[in-house]
Amino acid sequence: MKKIEAIIKPFKLDEVKEALQEVGLQGITVTEAKGFGRQKGHAELYRGAEYIVDFLPKVKIEIVIGDDLVEKAIDAIRRAAQTGRIGDGKIFVSNIEEAVRIRTGESGLDAI
Ligand SMILES: Nc1ncnc2c1ncn2[C@@H]1O[C@H](COP(=O)(O)OP(=O)(O)OP(=O)(O)O)[C@@H](O)[C@H]1O
Ligand SMILES: [Mg+2]
Repeated sequence: MKKIEAIIKPFKLDEVKEALQEVGLQGITVTEAKGFGRQKGHAELYRGAEYIVDFLPKVKIEIVIGDDLVEKAIDAIRRAAQTGRIGDGKIFVSNIEEAVRIRTGESGLDAI
């Protein structure tokens, strides 16, 4: 199992959700977030050396899926979230060791 965390532009959430539904995800968690990337939000030179950093609103989505769906999910997120402009976001993938479905006690792939 893998967890995909994607930080995207908030207005892209519906498109990303629909693209992921086509891949066949079971669940999704969405969190309002704020952050900055390489441009540091809105970078301004400050006293010649320091930068003022602005946090920009983002949405973080998290999905846990079987390994077989990871590539499809990444492609779907990329296609749906990309505008080609700075700040389109990032996708991070990590291993998930265990999952438990609380109602039934199922674990592993059966739980997701
Ligand atoms: N290395 C990182 N670690 C954690 N979060 C990150 C990282 N890079 C980007 N993010 C998150 O993703 C959001 C969007 O990042 P962004 O797309 O601006 O990255 P970038 O590297 O500056 O790429 P681009 O040049 O396309 O803007 C940030 O606001 C932040 O929330
Ligand atoms: Mg950026």
